[in-house]
Amino acid sequence: MTLLNATLLLSSLLSFLLVFSPTFTVSTVLFQSFKWESWTQEGGFYNSLHRSIDDLSNSGITHVWLPPSSQSAAPEGYLPGKLYDLNSSKHGSEAELKSLIAALNQKGIKAVADIVINHRSYERKDEQSGLYYFEGGTSDDRLDWDSSSICSHDPNFIGTGNKDTGDGFEGAPDIDHLNPRVQKELSEWMNWIKSEIGFSGWRIDFVKGFSSSITKLYVQNTSPEFAVGEKWDDIKIGGDGKLDPDQEEHRSALKQWIEESGGGVLTAFDFTTKRILQTAVVGELWRLRDSQGKPPGLIGIMPETAVTFVENHDTIRIDPWPFPSDKVLLGYVYILTHPGTPCIFYTHYMEWSLKDSILKLVAIRNKNGISSTSSVLIKAAEADLYLAMIDEKVIMKIGPKLDLGTLVPSDFALAYSGLDFAVWEKQ
Ligand SMILES: *[C@@H]1O[C@H](CO)[C@@H](O)[C@H](O)[C@H]1NC(C)=O
Repeated sequence: MTLLNATLLLSSLLSFLLVFSPTFTVSTVLFQSFKWESWTQEGGFYNSLHRSIDDLSNSGITHVWLPPSSQSAAPEGYLPGKLYDLNSSKHGSEAELKSLIAALNQKGIKAVADIVINHRSYERKDEQSGLYYFEGGTSDDRLDWDSSSICSHDPNFIGTGNKDTGDGFEGAPDIDHLNPRVQKELSEWMNWIKSEIGFSGWRIDFVKGFSSSITKLYVQNTSPEFAVGEKWDDIKIGGDGKLDPDQEEHRSALKQWIEESGGGVLTAFDFTTKRILQTAVVGELWRLRDSQGKPPGLIGIMPETAVTFVENHDTIRIDPWPFPSDKVLLGYVYILTHPGTPCIFYTHYMEWSLKDSILKLVAIRNKNGISSTSSVLIKAAEADLYLAMIDEKVIMKIGPKLDLGTLVPSDFALAYSGLDFAVWEKQ
């Protein structure tokens, strides 16, 4: 081949890629960049993550979820008080955070803020009147509230606002989200961390603490590029060899929450999939097919709104939610080949030796164009074998069963395998 021919071929290849690249969407992959103890990171959490950015770029990770960044009564950030004060966080300063997000953005990675607005730490209590006062952390009076911003009927912190529209929180006053000033000033603050600090989206903490219309309001007022809500309900797992009807209710509640509060970019963590998956991988893989032949979690009924995950900073600490640690990779084989938007957990990626395996699976996902809406055909769901075909392009199995019979057609070639799992690609 002459040089001219080679150049022509290359340029036509390039124009082909340019013309067709818009249809070639890379799957959104979320990374939870922290664990519960990350605030103790020597030299600062933001700085530490900043040093890992080269590691995250080219990984296929598109969005990084950061811990709550405001001044907080608890070091992890989940009891925020002065929301505009990003210099008192145990994770690092406002300048370090901005620099981290700018560096992520430069690599094409977006930052997702952890939005904790159900409750808020007060600055002082007037013992005589019993009134509480909050401070926003600015020189003006933004977010400087009093007891009128606290829900009435909060048993621990008596407020004079409206009745709570959701579940109560014990550790700090529940904020009255029906108060127009609360709505306005929290929306402004969220828009500030978007425009000033560089966040693109939201992970909304404890959305059970207020009604779905409240979530809808904040999402509408702030137009995030990505948003996921933490609606974490208990789930009963039946032990009698059958799917428990409660599981259907569990994912239906997620679906209903999305329908009431969504309509746009909003998604929900798929706690149903997480809890069933961690039970299934211990010799009960039959659990991974529902009565309609679909995956049993939110991904089986509304995959475009489901954020799948194996573990997070809370579940790893709270029984009965921790994933069996020796089966974690099987969890990733499932979520990274299945529909939904997968979320990778800090500890698994950074601390356990799973990074290379996770990266191989993300690469297979992207190479085959697996997306949040991909189709799943479940070919086997038995105690020791789960085998499914995704988009007629990828076949995966988890479970120790070795004899697969004719389940994998000969035009599929092994792409990656390990203990109790395998992934094939169509040739
Ligand atoms: C935080 O520190 C930065 C300088 O690093 C400053 O510009 C900003 O105003 C400070 N914010 C607060 C709330 O003190």
